[in-house]
Amino acid sequence: MKTPSDTLEPLAANSIDRRSFIRRMAGAGALIATSALPVWADDEVPAAAPDVFPKRGQYERLSISYATVEIGAEKPFSVLHISDTHLTAAYEHENAKKQQLRESRTTTFGGHQEEALRDALAWARQHVDYVVHTGDLIDWQSEANFDLVRKYFGDAMFGSMGNHEFTTDMWLSDPKEEQTEAYKDNTRSLLGQVYPFDVRFQSQVVHGVNFITLDDVYGYVTEGQVERFLSEVKRGLPIVLCMHVPFHTPNIWRATMRFWRDKGPMTSRDVPEASGDYLMQQDDLVTRDFIRYLKTEPLLRCILAGHEHITVEDQFSPTCRQYVVAGNFLFHGREVLFL
Ligand SMILES: [Fe+2]
Repeated sequence: MKTPSDTLEPLAANSIDRRSFIRRMAGAGALIATSALPVWADDEVPAAAPDVFPKRGQYERLSISYATVEIGAEKPFSVLHISDTHLTAAYEHENAKKQQLRESRTTTFGGHQEEALRDALAWARQHVDYVVHTGDLIDWQSEANFDLVRKYFGDAMFGSMGNHEFTTDMWLSDPKEEQTEAYKDNTRSLLGQVYPFDVRFQSQVVHGVNFITLDDVYGYVTEGQVERFLSEVKRGLPIVLCMHVPFHTPNIWRATMRFWRDKGPMTSRDVPEASGDYLMQQDDLVTRDFIRYLKTEPLLRCILAGHEHITVEDQFSPTCRQYVVAGNFLFHGREVLFL
C-alpha cells in the first residue's frame, strides 16, 4: 500500500508504542520495524553465492559501526542504518541488456550482495528495533531486482531512493540517463509501486522523533521537497533526515575524494575542489539555500546518508551530526541508538 506522507494522519507523538507502530506500518510503509520484516527460510541461500567466511560465527562477517544520538526520544530505541546494497539480479527471460548488466555489475560488486542484505536484516531482527535503507538497494531496474526488494522488505520498509534506483540500464539506458527530474519521471510511478513509501519525501514519527526521507539522488532537492520539510518542522519534533547523497561538509568531501580520487599520503589541510554532488549543492540555489537554512534549524538533529561507500561522520551544524554509512554490499552497517 502506498501512502504519501502528506496524507498520513499525524501520529500522536506521545501515544505510539512498538505494537501499534508495527500495525500501522504494515499498511503505511515506514521505518522497518524489524519484527515486521518478512520471514524467509534459513536454507534459502542464493544458489550462486558461496559462503563468505564459512568458519566464522553467524554475524562476524558483518562490519557494524555504532553511534549514539541524544535526541530527546520518549524512550530509547535503535536503528540499523544500511545503504548501497547494489543488487544485480536479472531473470533469464529479461532482455540482453539486463543479462549484460547482471554479468558485469555482479563482478563489480562481488556477487555477495544478497547475502549481505540477508545478514544485515537477520542481525537487525535480533539486535535493533528498526531499519532504514538510504538507497541504491538495487543497481539498476530489473524484474528480478524488484522482486528481491519485495521479498526482503514486503510492505515494511522505510528509506530513500538512490541514484541507481532510477537507472533503467546504466550506460545502456535508452533514453540515455540524465540527472534530471524529467529522467526520474520516466520510471517514478513504477518505483512507487515497488517501494512501499513515497519516493520523493516521507515522514514518520517514532517515539517522538520525526524521521524524514527525501530523494536527493543527483545532489539537489526541489522546491516541493523544501516546502514539505518546512511543514514538517512546524510539528516541533526533533528531526532525523535520511537521504542518499550526503549534504557535503568539507571534511566529508575530503574523505570522499580520498577514497575515490586522491592518491598518496595526506599532506594538506586543503579541501579538494568541489565537483559532482558537492558542486551541485553549491550551485543549485534551492539546494544551497536549503542547506544554509538547515544549518540554523535547531530541530534538525541527525542526518543519515550513503552513496559514497565509505563510513565517515562529521558535525553538520551546532545541533546535527551527519553519518555516512559504507556499502551494505561490503557487509557494512551502522547501529544508531537514539536517546
Ligand atoms: Fe549512489
